[in-house]
Amino acid sequence: MANSPTVDLGYFDESRSADVVNARMAGPGNERLRVVIGAIVRHLHAAVNEIEPTHEEWLAAIQFLTDTGHMCTDWRQEFILLSDILGVTMLVDAINHRRPSGATPNTILGPFYVAGAPEYPNGGNINLDGKGEPTLIVGRVSDVDGNPVAGARLDVWQTSNDGYYDVQQPDEQPAFNHRGVFQSDEDGRYWFKTVKPRFYPIPDDGPVGKLLRDIGRHPNRAAHLHFIVTAPGYEQVITHIFTPDCPYLREDTVFGVKADLVARFQPLEDPEMARVHDMPSPSLVVEWDFVLAKIATSDSPDPVLQSAAR
Ligand code: BEZ
Ligand code: FE
Repeated sequence: MANSPTVDLGYFDESRSADVVNARMAGPGNERLRVVIGAIVRHLHAAVNEIEPTHEEWLAAIQFLTDTGHMCTDWRQEFILLSDILGVTMLVDAINHRRPSGATPNTILGPFYVAGAPEYPNGGNINLDGKGEPTLIVGRVSDVDGNPVAGARLDVWQTSNDGYYDVQQPDEQPAFNHRGVFQSDEDGRYWFKTVKPRFYPIPDDGPVGKLLRDIGRHPNRAAHLHFIVTAPGYEQVITHIFTPDCPYLREDTVFGVKADLVARFQPLEDPEMARVHDMPSPSLVVEWDFVLAKIATSDSPDPVLQSAAR
């Protein structure tokens, strides 16, 4: 009988299988790990009870995980990709980056970040191959009270307008195409030139891509630019800005889109702005501000509670 108090947890019992397993963790050990494994065992047994898999189905699941492991190399992490398409990467990120209201939200880092991109002065052009729709990005870095953050470092990367990162096309794109590092000026301002990014598929030639196809999902990410924004005393922001007209905006395969990260890519119609920034016609312009949250110290009030109280 379910939840019978007479079940001896030393023996397997279908009705209390998770309790039987978790009861074994009685010896000395790592308490946090015990909590983690206890929760995973409870939820995994609940899922198996709900699904009631055949032996063949369970072996197919094991084979999928085996294939996922075999797909991993120094530069391909298929388990992270699995976590991405299940929405878990975004959930873990959200849990760990709860910010005060008004601060720029985080989103997924992804596998295409490359450290050591060239540093450019403001106004630099990261579109090294000259293809695509010229786009001027201008904005300001501030704190949550609107004070400028000078000297913030903005590390930017994105795909070409064909939807490929430079590292995916080493023979076709110049190294560090669509990558660059900028610094906000004394008023917190930054600006640079690039192209409008395009949507693209996540690497889908492995078990995760097959899984997506088998469950009727596409592999596409909504078009975006990546940013890592850092400044001393402020929380690092790993984020994107998204194009508003991408067909995949509301169905990003890794759930990376947050409403507050959708930008406006508008025709650059101000001739003075086009002249000052030496932009060709036609061009697009995006105005985008980053708002950084101070790093919480043990004696500073909790920023999330503070903003909730406002
Ligand atoms: C990316 O945006 O670069 C990305 C994120 C998650 C999985 C694959 C690619
Ligand atoms: Fe990306």
